[in-house]
Amino acid sequence: MQQEIELILHHMHVENIVETGTRKFYVGTIQKKKCVVSLSRIGKVASSVTAAVMIERFAVDRLIVTGVAGGLTDEVKIGDIVVATSSVQHDMDCRPIFPQFEIPLLDVVTFTCDTTLVEDAYKSCSTFIREELHDFVSKNELQALHIHQPAVHKGLLVSGDQFIGTMPQYEKIRAELPDAIFVEMEGAAVAQVCYEYKVPLVVVRSISDKANAIAHIDFNRYIENVAKYYTWGLIEGMMK
Ligand code: ADE
Repeated sequence: MQQEIELILHHMHVENIVETGTRKFYVGTIQKKKCVVSLSRIGKVASSVTAAVMIERFAVDRLIVTGVAGGLTDEVKIGDIVVATSSVQHDMDCRPIFPQFEIPLLDVVTFTCDTTLVEDAYKSCSTFIREELHDFVSKNELQALHIHQPAVHKGLLVSGDQFIGTMPQYEKIRAELPDAIFVEMEGAAVAQVCYEYKVPLVVVRSISDKANAIAHIDFNRYIENVAKYYTWGLIEGMMK
């Protein structure tokens, strides 16, 4: 969302803005590293288009998806950071023609993130949480959201075109994909694009809510108050 990329754009040295297909692509540098930044908007189609344009038009050689996500396990709390090691599209279901979750005609259920990018992201996010978070977000703001000692997790991401905000939705995902630690609406779709184009990908997000019956309340408070600091902190760390 717009709030999430605000600080990235503020700190980026923008050399050119390319407008295409209702999106703006900001071309320039962050910490002297060449990059392209775009607001993908929400959902699998929007993020897939963004990824395809990044690859086809701007020839990016790796991709980072960032923003917020819903935590699925007890350990993954609001304010924590999650790095996807792999991802599944939880709403892909062409049964009985293909097995549940399998991407038709691609024969893939699980997309694996690039291991080097995952390890780099995990390290830089751990440093960010340990040493820098409090420079970015005040203690009061964190406490107001009950964020005390955030942690970094690695694991399975599930994505689909649904905001998970009711207990039946939550329980369905937990039952069908028990290994998943976080849910959002884009990462596994971008993972399919990256798989098809052989472009390394990592998905790094902070947890805005617990994908439960109060997820919409937690999500809005997090987005309004702290999401942008996390997003910029993560990206800054990864561009070092
Ligand atoms: N992004 C952040 N929270 C989410 C949720 N609960 N469901 C889907 N996407 C999300």
